[in-house]
Amino acid sequence: MNKSDKIYVAGHRGLVGSAIVRLLEQKGFHNIVTRSHGELDLNRQEQVEAFFKSERPGYVFLAAARVGGIGANSEFPARFIYDNLAIALNIIHSAKIFGTAKLINLGSSCVYPKLAPQPLKEEYLLSGPLEPTNEAYAVAKIAAIKMCRHYNSEYGTNFISLMPTNLYGPGDNFDLAGSHVLAALIRKFHLARLLSLNDLKGIHRDLCHRSKDSAYHSMTDRKLVSELGNQGIFSDRVVLWGTGAPFREFLHVDDLAAACLFLMQAPDSLSIGEIINVGVGKDIAIDELAELIRSIVSFEGKISFDNSRPDGTPRKLLDISRILKLGWKPGIALKEGLAATYSWYCRYC
Ligand SMILES: NC(=O)c1ccc[n+]([C@@H]2O[C@H](COP(=O)([O-])OP(=O)(O)OC[C@H]3O[C@@H](n4cnc5c(N)ncnc54)[C@H](OP(=O)(O)O)[C@@H]3O)[C@@H](O)[C@H]2O)c1
Repeated sequence: MNKSDKIYVAGHRGLVGSAIVRLLEQKGFHNIVTRSHGELDLNRQEQVEAFFKSERPGYVFLAAARVGGIGANSEFPARFIYDNLAIALNIIHSAKIFGTAKLINLGSSCVYPKLAPQPLKEEYLLSGPLEPTNEAYAVAKIAAIKMCRHYNSEYGTNFISLMPTNLYGPGDNFDLAGSHVLAALIRKFHLARLLSLNDLKGIHRDLCHRSKDSAYHSMTDRKLVSELGNQGIFSDRVVLWGTGAPFREFLHVDDLAAACLFLMQAPDSLSIGEIINVGVGKDIAIDELAELIRSIVSFEGKISFDNSRPDGTPRKLLDISRILKLGWKPGIALKEGLAATYSWYCRYC
């Protein structure tokens, strides 16, 4: 890949897409094409084909998707399956028609069966039933993997699917209702800390800045405190979903961007097989993660767990030996990445 090659980053405003653009720019790639959701709806086949026809990107990072935590996945399974199937179908097919030399398809560790042995090896794909709370999302992601694989075998394309573990970092979605666990924890502890300091102005600022819901702007302090209570956020404690027992692995998004670029530039990437895991190869229990974030945020209250809420998959650790063998490894330790992410969060609220 040359510095002047045309590179399309789909989903460039998202967590992954923005990290890929940041990295490409740092490395001197200067022909990056992006379109916001408003400018190009990737669910619409005719719009995607017209875009590829006029731009003809040589390289594509497919980082656009409908993404969310357990709550959003359980509540909106139809939107998760439709949007993710449509985006994959439209981009992968257009990339083939309009001659894209190489495409990186972002999958997810949710594609693996709920009870697959740990750590998860690439060959466990489709070896058992999926976690029901995110089945719709996972099925769409598996369809995208299979599209890439079958397009490669029938049409000779060079489309690779990466399975990243849980991600975090600057640009994450911190929405209390739709975010993933790590971002939700940062925000909950941050708001609880403000509450413990009686910093209601700070809470107003945070909620108005980060929530699409304009109701927060006119909310009285009392109503605000009661709203936070509904989310498990109190001045002396934070209540978290589930038991705290599941284990999860977390990769800083800048490490993922580095892995995406590494694989985009790897000469023999097709030999890696259908999919390749990207993670840190180490996991942490949610209660331990919560404790780590509590201390980074400097919230002095307690942590309790609401075990009437679902836990999701008991453990999800990726086997990353395949990518390690190719010569890539993660560089950002969890504690350091969390502290940097929290500083970023504080700068933007
Ligand atoms: N976040 C994680 O922990 C994680 C873990 C493993 C894998 N991944 C994978 O990484 C990829 C990117 O995830 P992310 O966390 O970066 O998601 P994200 O922050 O939600 O970003 C997704 C982007 O896609 C755009 N998008 C969604 N639907 C679109 C549409 N119909 N047309 C045009 N743009 C659309 C969004 O734009 P709008 O916001 O304007 O809609 C957004 O910019 C996904 O494939 C995901 O499965 C993520």
